[in-house]
Amino acid sequence: MLIKMQRKTILTTFIRIFCVVVFIFQFYLLTKDYLQFNVDKEVTNYIDDAIEIPEVHIAIPYYYALDINLLLNNKSSFHQACRAFFNKDNCNNLVTDFATFGKWVGHTLTLSDIAKYSYLTETFIKKIYWSRSSEDPLKTGKCKIIRKASSTTLVLVIRCVNSHGLPLKLSRAKAIIFNSNALFNFTLNTTMMLMKLNYPGKALIDDSSLHLVGFSTKGKQTWLGIRFTKHTETSLPPPYKTMCRNYDRRKTFEDCLNAHSIEQTGMLFPGTAVSLDKYSTSSQMRFNSPFYGNSSSIIMKIYRQCQSVVTQQMCNMVRYSYRMVTSSQDIAQDGQKMRIFFTATAEPGSLTESKPDFPLSDYLILSGSLFSTWFGISIMGQLLAASHLLCKPYRKSTDKVDFKTKIRPNRTAINTIRPRYNKSHNNLTIISPLA
Ligand SMILES: *[C@@H]1O[C@H](CO)[C@@H](O)[C@H](O)[C@H]1NC(C)=O
Ligand SMILES: *[C@@H]1O[C@H](CO)[C@@H](O)[C@H](O)[C@H]1NC(C)=O
Ligand SMILES: *[C@@H]1O[C@H](CO)[C@@H](O)[C@H](O)[C@H]1NC(C)=O
Ligand SMILES: *[C@@H]1O[C@H](CO)[C@@H](O)[C@H](O)[C@H]1NC(C)=O
Ligand SMILES: *[C@@H]1O[C@H](CO)[C@@H](O)[C@H](O)[C@H]1NC(C)=O
Ligand SMILES: *[C@@H]1O[C@H](CO)[C@@H](O)[C@H](O)[C@H]1NC(C)=O
Ligand SMILES: *[C@@H]1O[C@H](CO)[C@@H](O)[C@H](O)[C@H]1NC(C)=O
Repeated sequence: MLIKMQRKTILTTFIRIFCVVVFIFQFYLLTKDYLQFNVDKEVTNYIDDAIEIPEVHIAIPYYYALDINLLLNNKSSFHQACRAFFNKDNCNNLVTDFATFGKWVGHTLTLSDIAKYSYLTETFIKKIYWSRSSEDPLKTGKCKIIRKASSTTLVLVIRCVNSHGLPLKLSRAKAIIFNSNALFNFTLNTTMMLMKLNYPGKALIDDSSLHLVGFSTKGKQTWLGIRFTKHTETSLPPPYKTMCRNYDRRKTFEDCLNAHSIEQTGMLFPGTAVSLDKYSTSSQMRFNSPFYGNSSSIIMKIYRQCQSVVTQQMCNMVRYSYRMVTSSQDIAQDGQKMRIFFTATAEPGSLTESKPDFPLSDYLILSGSLFSTWFGISIMGQLLAASHLLCKPYRKSTDKVDFKTKIRPNRTAINTIRPRYNKSHNNLTIISPLA
């Protein structure tokens, strides 16, 4: 008897341990899966009627953006800078050809010089035409052109945003029906330009897309047609593997480069573009050059240092794919025009969304069901038991009501009605005192 009892407890203990071990193993596997924080990418392609106007960056080499005559006429500032920078007395030879000019002049000029000697935005772009509208967004203030300086080019940033900083939209249908696909167009008065499209505030640093390059020549009118498509990508912040961060990557990077460069060399970092308004027009700040003295190693060091600050991608990225077609047409001999028009394309835009591969809700449901598989008590059984308990007092009260209306039998009599077993003939007989 005792041995039997012992065997029974050993067996139950064994069963318990087995269940707990298997449960822990399965729970560990489940948790490990969840803690990998893998993501799934879902791509949606779409063609929207409302097309957001990208931020257009037009970089014009200083050779075409500065009023060279004015620059040379005022010997004092340019030559002073040139002397300070190159230790040379005569810098006239710097401005004679395009290549030398591009390599050196941007570095010798201070920001206030660049602001003073570069042409005004109206010289480059007078008016922007919306499709099927007589409105000039530059006049109404819907679009603004911001002048920025870089070490080699003057950058014109055409930005058309609403009060929330979101891009203005133009109708694709309107452009296709009324304006042979053109969304907006303008004339750019320059000989050479490099163009890039950005989404306001969301530009990438090491954007692999190349600049579009446009030229105009004497006696020709050049037409540049630009088609663009928007590609949006949303990612998940850590702990998910996409590890994104909510920040303006370009701004963070450029601010870092310039802050370190100013601190260590007293000059701006060569690859950046700064708003001519940000550094006041009296600013004596200029751009450093990797060809200047031994600054290349410092510049490299700063670049590496700042790159480590922007390794995380942005949670909400927008990038454009774009293409340019050019054609030209003869005009008057001394005339020269560059007309730029942005067109709607039938190529779909894309939205790439990252989603958790194993979301928290799935983990909770699965771990809950795993627990109940091994140790579970049926919820239905528990609810039924609870309902019995709830219904007991309820039944008593209904009994009372019933008995009131019926003839109440003698209670003591009922109590004495008990089955008795008559052993004498194996018969169960109910012996009622009432009988
Ligand atoms: C020439 O440069 C000096 C010093 O930078 C400045 O005071 C003067 O206004 C400039 N003259 C012109 C015509 O730009
Ligand atoms: C075009 O630019 C040149 C300087 O590059 C300037 O002299 C000329 O006035 C500009 N034309 C217009 C129409 O603004
Ligand atoms: C620019 O738009 C205006 C108004 O819609 C139109 O008259 C003009 O022909 C357009 N120019 C180009 C180059 O598309
Ligand atoms: C750069 O050159 C200067 C002297 O011209 C020197 O003092 C400085 O240490 C050099 N810096 C580096 C990083 O070599
Ligand atoms: C119930 O029955 C017992 C004996 O059978 C009797 O003594 C008693 O008076 C009865 N009571 C009522 C209320 O009828
Ligand atoms: C049991 O049954 C026998 C025969 O039917 C009967 O004589 C006897 O009284 C019974 N006993 C009881 C306790 O009812
Ligand atoms: C039990 O006994 C009663 C009378 O005491 C009788 O009428 C009945 O048939 C018996 N039943 C069995 C199964 O013996």
